[in-house]
Amino acid sequence: MTREPSNSGDNKISVAFCCLGNICRSPMAEAVLRHATSEMKLSHLINEIDSFGTSGFHSGDGPDRRTVQTCRANGVPVNHVSRQVRLSDFERFDYIFAMDRENLEDLKYMQPRGSKSKIMLFGAYCEDARMDKIISDPYYGGPDGFQSSFRQLDHFSRTFLKKLATGTA
Ligand code: 4NP
Repeated sequence: MTREPSNSGDNKISVAFCCLGNICRSPMAEAVLRHATSEMKLSHLINEIDSFGTSGFHSGDGPDRRTVQTCRANGVPVNHVSRQVRLSDFERFDYIFAMDRENLEDLKYMQPRGSKSKIMLFGAYCEDARMDKIISDPYYGGPDGFQSSFRQLDHFSRTFLKKLATGTA
């Protein structure tokens, strides 16, 4: 008898990332997790990866050019159209990862009682004591902020995937 991977078919999970504007951090997070999933050959574990913002300030816009440049410089394709979080997202996604504490509190406030999403800081998957768990807003800063967000997102994504693959996420 052939055995299915332990997390296949209906067991695939859906993941979303949330920041404030959905043009800098969360589209980058979406792109980085998708890339790491493919590199680590774990696509059988994940159904959907998406992102949105707590605000609709930039709805309809593409990612900030500094997010595009940083992703491109690190060999990661990024492609997204900004949108605001919807109530249905709390049933659609198994995990909704917040970038900072404000996003986390806003999501928890919005979440319909009893809905399925697990809402967490993505930094909960930090295994490097020197790295900040909070992915702070790089919008008003220089390019260094985007590169540092990228490094955090890459580390958290790989830790999350490692745990997902061993059933400990
Ligand atoms: P993000 O960054 O939340 O990482 O997409 C921001 C983008 C836009 C604004 C704030 C943060 N804004 O105020 O327009």
